[in-house]
Amino acid sequence: MGSSQILIFVSILSCSSLILAGDFRQDVDIIWGNDKAKILENGQAITLSLDKVSGSGFQSQAQFLFGKISMEIKLVPGNSAGTVTSFYLASKGAMWDEIDFEFLGNLSRDPYTVHTNVITQGKGDREQQFRLWFDPTIDFHTYSILWNPKTIVFYVDGTPIREFKNMKTMNVSYPEKQEMRVHSSLWNGDDWATRGGLVKTDWSKAPFTAYYRNYEVQECVWSVRGSNVSCGGGDSSSWFKEGIDENSMKTLKWVQSNFMIYDYCNDSKRFRLGLATECVALN
Ligand SMILES: *[C@@H]1O[C@H](CO)[C@@H](O)[C@H](O)[C@H]1NC(C)=O
Ligand SMILES: *[C@@H]1O[C@H](CO)[C@@H](O)[C@H](O)[C@H]1NC(C)=O
Ligand SMILES: *[C@@H]1O[C@H](CO)[C@@H](O)[C@H](O)[C@H]1NC(C)=O
Ligand SMILES: *[C@@H]1O[C@H](CO)[C@@H](O)[C@H](O)[C@H]1NC(C)=O
Repeated sequence: MGSSQILIFVSILSCSSLILAGDFRQDVDIIWGNDKAKILENGQAITLSLDKVSGSGFQSQAQFLFGKISMEIKLVPGNSAGTVTSFYLASKGAMWDEIDFEFLGNLSRDPYTVHTNVITQGKGDREQQFRLWFDPTIDFHTYSILWNPKTIVFYVDGTPIREFKNMKTMNVSYPEKQEMRVHSSLWNGDDWATRGGLVKTDWSKAPFTAYYRNYEVQECVWSVRGSNVSCGGGDSSSWFKEGIDENSMKTLKWVQSNFMIYDYCNDSKRFRLGLATECVALN
């Protein structure tokens, strides 16, 4: 083999979409709260806790451009008002991209709010909020983010609740150039989280604890063949091309009409100068 043939051979080998059933011991760094984050069950689970001194958080070592990421989470039970449990993807720098799940706690028996946002090049203001159709503190439930060149989809137990399409052709910026890491944290957000900040964290109930397990990442491993750059395996693997088909669009619409409680595309009071381009273009 000539050296150029070897190069091509090697890049074909590296052409695979990596599926990682995560081991938290190897895959993440605890970046906040030290021993308030605990890795358990041989790396299969992690708990984050929050007390008056601080919260805690971790991030993936790997960073990637496009992927499908799932995490099972059991949220803080009981009086969780003021607490925010998060699971999101983010890149770095002042022009960062971010795809957010944030779970806003509540008083015992009052419902959690699932807060979502998409930030592109440092600009967010794209909040959508939902109620859940179950109590998220009793069992683990799976929260997933699909991020490919076509679309971003948020799922709860496999049910799509939100889509953010690539509408670059309409001059809506889309996260497609910066690698992101997976992040999770538990923090005190009682200046805004529960009833807009009216209900404060009850520190007599601290420490608060959220549970994470079965972290799974399908990420692009990029390869270069000649002048072609492709998301390894991805071009043929389903998540890379996946989007919302007609059936899942019906489900998504159903969820949105029954469980969505806030939509930035429906808030012309807040956006007096006009709703975001993607809101207008979709309607
Ligand atoms: C595209 O968006 C940018 C940033 O919002 C803006 O400065 C520019 O004028 C827009 N271009 C068009 C053609 O609308
Ligand atoms: C908490 O419960 C109240 C009363 O049901 C509700 O208005 C609020 O949206 C809930 N969630 C948060 C995060 O405040
Ligand atoms: C690059 O992609 C083009 C079009 O898909 C294909 O015809 C060509 O063979 C590819 N080149 C290499 C080196 O893989
Ligand atoms: C949309 O706006 C209307 C009118 O302000 C409001 O009644 C409704 O609750 C809003 N829906 C969502 C999902 O924000």
